[in-house]
Amino acid sequence: DITLVAALAFGYLLGSIPFGLLLTRAAGLGDIRAIGSGNIGATNVLRTGNKKLAAATLLLDGLKGTAAVLIAQRWGMDFGLVAGLGAFLGHVFPVWLRFQGGKGVATFIGILLAVYWPAFLAFALIWVVMAYAFRFSSLAALSASLSMPALFFATGQRGLALSAVVAMVFLLFAKHHQNIAKLIAGTESRIGEKSAPPP
Ligand code: G3P
Repeated sequence: DITLVAALAFGYLLGSIPFGLLLTRAAGLGDIRAIGSGNIGATNVLRTGNKKLAAATLLLDGLKGTAAVLIAQRWGMDFGLVAGLGAFLGHVFPVWLRFQGGKGVATFIGILLAVYWPAFLAFALIWVVMAYAFRFSSLAALSASLSMPALFFATGQRGLALSAVVAMVFLLFAKHHQNIAKLIAGTESRIGEKSAPPP
């Protein structure tokens, strides 16, 4: 269906805007990909020490997911879901960065907000509790994400919504393979630890 492909492409284009990279570059912090984990997301922007920039990255990377769903939803629920999936794929695999994008956490949260807001609240709650307890952004995000398919299923959010969530959580985990290895090895950096400036 050509209109579903159009929704996917629209979401992808919106999602592929790498806000973390653009904001840090505009602030004169150099290339975020040469700092900390090398990721373009809010967690890594925080390692520059600039909290406002990290918050702006989280907000904008999230809102592009929210916007993709809400705008495309005007043509029907499925269009919103497909555009949300497109935004997630755009963030994780942006054509502009040779498909080397972010890990998807902020954009996933933004999509949840538009698709099923109770899931957004549950995600935020689990994230905050886990982050407070262990101080690893990755562990908090992975725990909250893993709970989402079960939450969607248990609350009757099935069909395409559940399939899209499962696909996004799968990709989110795949993109966190280095974080998972570091968590197991005990070398993952904690929230608030700054990165040494690049040489
Ligand atoms: O889930 C947070 C994730 O994005 C971790 O980012 O920079 O620690 O790999 P980073």
